[in-house]
Amino acid sequence: MRKPLSWATALCLLIGSALLLVAAPAFKTKKPGEKIVLAGIGKSIHAYWREVELGMRAAAKKLKGCQVRWFVPPKEDVRAQVATFESFVAQGVDGIVIGPSNPAAIKGAVQKALKAGIPVITFDTDAPDSGRLLYVGTDNYKAGYEAGKTMVKVLGGKGKVAICTGSLTALNSVQRMEGFKAAVKGTQIQIVETYNDNEDRAKALANAQAALQRYPDLAGFFGVYAFNGPACAQAVKMMGKAGKVKIVCFDTTAEHMQLIRQGLITATVGQRPFMMGYRSTEILYRMVTEGVEKVLRDLKLDKLPPEKRHVDTGIDVVTKENMEAYRRQLLKLGIPVQGW
Ligand code: BGC
Repeated sequence: MRKPLSWATALCLLIGSALLLVAAPAFKTKKPGEKIVLAGIGKSIHAYWREVELGMRAAAKKLKGCQVRWFVPPKEDVRAQVATFESFVAQGVDGIVIGPSNPAAIKGAVQKALKAGIPVITFDTDAPDSGRLLYVGTDNYKAGYEAGKTMVKVLGGKGKVAICTGSLTALNSVQRMEGFKAAVKGTQIQIVETYNDNEDRAKALANAQAALQRYPDLAGFFGVYAFNGPACAQAVKMMGKAGKVKIVCFDTTAEHMQLIRQGLITATVGQRPFMMGYRSTEILYRMVTEGVEKVLRDLKLDKLPPEKRHVDTGIDVVTKENMEAYRRQLLKLGIPVQGW
């Protein structure tokens, strides 16, 4: 038979659970129709983030009383993200979604917002240890792995490859590179160097040119961020190496799609930035009007450890051959297609 609890143990348990209740953030709720202000923070000025913003605004239009405040720094800027996040908290917005350029740097601000009863989620790139409630976006390791498999196919399993990215701290970049490396492991593909441009368009081009100069026998570029595929394509063209150096990259802005059509980009991993904005806005709105616990239950994420709570927006590997089918699929999903 189990021993009955002593008074002292029972008291400790009681105090313990009371403390837990105090520690768990209490989120403020509002009724649909009341003014609900949701803030979105992206990573850089780029067509990719414009699509995320459009997704947020499209969802807000559909939700009663919902308003969006939007911020992106010109290029990767961890400080500006943190400062803006803190100012949104001070303004008393009702929910925040952020794509953190540095997950460690944003943690303190996320904790403060949660303590103030403001639900915080991430999109595009995660900060799993920050306490954020969930992440909406691509499974970046898997997506990087797909890019790596595609590169193996495109290069017939051998050749020198340079990686060009826009961040060495954002988790999506780190995970894409890890996935890519895992996929090319065991082949004769050799990764010669990793270049970082901090999401600076001019630097992205300079990096790609530097790689072509330093490795005259370069066979391929892996462009990790939306800036990189087009920058590599421009460098390849300028140096008269079109068709000789293959490009596998990420994203499907109009610029990417035109370069695919011209054969300068061989394949790209399409994310769904519009959906990242759209879904995040819906989720935050529901968290504010229905409660965080209910939304987590409805999304079937409540039983998972917090760091694993992920709403996957999906990816597609896009080439010249399937780009028209891809367009039809986007339209079917309700994602607007612009400029290609
Ligand atoms: C990434 C974003 C990045 C954007 C522009 C996308 O591939 O998902 O995190 O900000 O490219 O560089």
